[in-house]
Parts: sequence; structure tokens; C-alpha cells
Amino acid sequence: MTWTNDVQSVGELAQRVPANHERFLLGIAGPPGAGKSTLAQRLRVALISAGRPAAVAPMDGYHLRNQVLLARNALARKGEPDTFDAAGFVADLRLLRETPVGSPVSWPLFDRAIDEPTEGGVIVRDERIVIVEGNYLLLTDAEAPGWAEVRGLLDACWYLDAPRPVLTERLLHRHTAGGRTPEQASHKVAGSDLRNADLIAASRHRADLVLTASGRDYRVN
Ligand SMILES: Nc1ncnc2c1ncn2[C@@H]1O[C@H](COP(=O)(O)OP(=O)(O)OP(=O)(O)O)[C@@H](O)[C@H]1O
Ligand SMILES: [Mg+2]
Repeated sequence: MTWTNDVQSVGELAQRVPANHERFLLGIAGPPGAGKSTLAQRLRVALISAGRPAAVAPMDGYHLRNQVLLARNALARKGEPDTFDAAGFVADLRLLRETPVGSPVSWPLFDRAIDEPTEGGVIVRDERIVIVEGNYLLLTDAEAPGWAEVRGLLDACWYLDAPRPVLTERLLHRHTAGGRTPEQASHKVAGSDLRNADLIAASRHRADLVLTASGRDYRVN
């Protein structure tokens, strides 16, 4: 754990990703709306600019399909730990670790436009750095069954935090932009998203580094 509390650009954060690994899996965990996907893509660009090919492998692609959630009466709870295929995610992380650099591993993405995962959205092949980002990378099985193996498959895991009012505002905006009424959006945020955020917050102390956005840069706690 680093206790520097300094502010670093994404380029400086990229320098914290160790070189000379055959393949390095860097996790970025954190609550919904914290900016994980944004940071992962910015880090990827910074690493590539530094001549270090990197790929992003989001946890989001392991959302269970809406049809499956409907059959389980869990559609309204979409986003909670048991609405993902945690076993599939763990298996693919292991595959990523075991596959030599240069051989392809296909990774699903989540398409917000259709609200469903898409198979093979990304192919990881030559990238020695893979940024794995998602909510539940630091949970124990006591917190949510099926997730505990994830941390051991990552070489390091950072945590991206954001103040609760910021999360709330971003999530409300996302839900209304996605077609919910303001009432439906509030209900989803209060009843589901922020509960997930609490669960995730309890896993924050397991991170190697805790970050908070500070303008375009990030504060390192
Ligand atoms: N550093 C930042 N400053 C301001 N806005 C940001 C920042 N990072 C992300 N955002 C905005 O916040 C929203 C959420 O960001 P993003 O989708 O990256 O979050 P996330 O953690 O991946 O969320 P989820 O867990 O739901 O996938 C987006 O609208 C994004 O543009
Ligand atoms: Mg995201």
C-alpha cells in the first residue's frame, strides 16, 4: 500500500505498471460509476504511447443474459454479484494467464446499447499488459460467492473511488439516458446500485493502490 496522497497523471500511473513480466494482469476495481472503464482506456492509451501494448478486459462482458435473469426473476437486480457469470470470468482470467503471449484469447464485452454481452468483443494476443476492470474484483466468498478467486489471478489490483454524491449523479444520468424515468432511475440507484457500492467499498482495503479522480489526474491515497 502506498500512502503518498500525491496527484499523478495517467502517464505517471502507467509507469507504476511493472515491466519485464511475461504478462501482467492489472485489476481496476471500484463502485459503479467511479470511472473504471474510463481510467482503463486512458491507461491503455498511455501505455501504448510508452511503447507498451496493453488491452482492456472488462468484467462487464460476464453479465448474464437478460433472458437468463428474467427466468431467475433477477432482471431488476441486474448488476448485483449473482447476476454475473463469475465462474466464466474466473475461468477466462485463468485462460488469459495460461495462454502464451502471441496466442489469441477472446474476451466478451458488454454492449450498453443492447444491454447484453457480446462474445469475442476483444481479442487479447500480443499485449503483455491486460487491464481487467470491474466492480467485484476484490470480494471474498463471504461477501459474494464465486468471486474470491479473482484477486489471486491478478498481479495487482487498484481501487478507483469517487464520492457518493458523484456516483449517485452519474448513475441517475446513466439510467435516464438508458430510457428509465427519473423515478425508475432513483429506485434503481437507491435500491440496487448503491447497495452494490457499499459491498464493493468493504473490499477497498484489499487494493494495492487507492485512486480518486482529481480533474484530469488521479489522487493516490
Ligand atoms: N475522471 C473523471 N472525471 C469526470 N467524469 C468522469 C471521470 N471518469 C469517468 N467519468 C464519467 O463518469 C461516468 C462513469 O464512468 P465509467 O463508465 O468509466 O465508470 P465505471 O466505473 O466504468 O462504471 P460501471 O461500474 O458502471 O461500469 C461516465 O459518464 C464518464 O464519462
Ligand atoms: Mg464500466
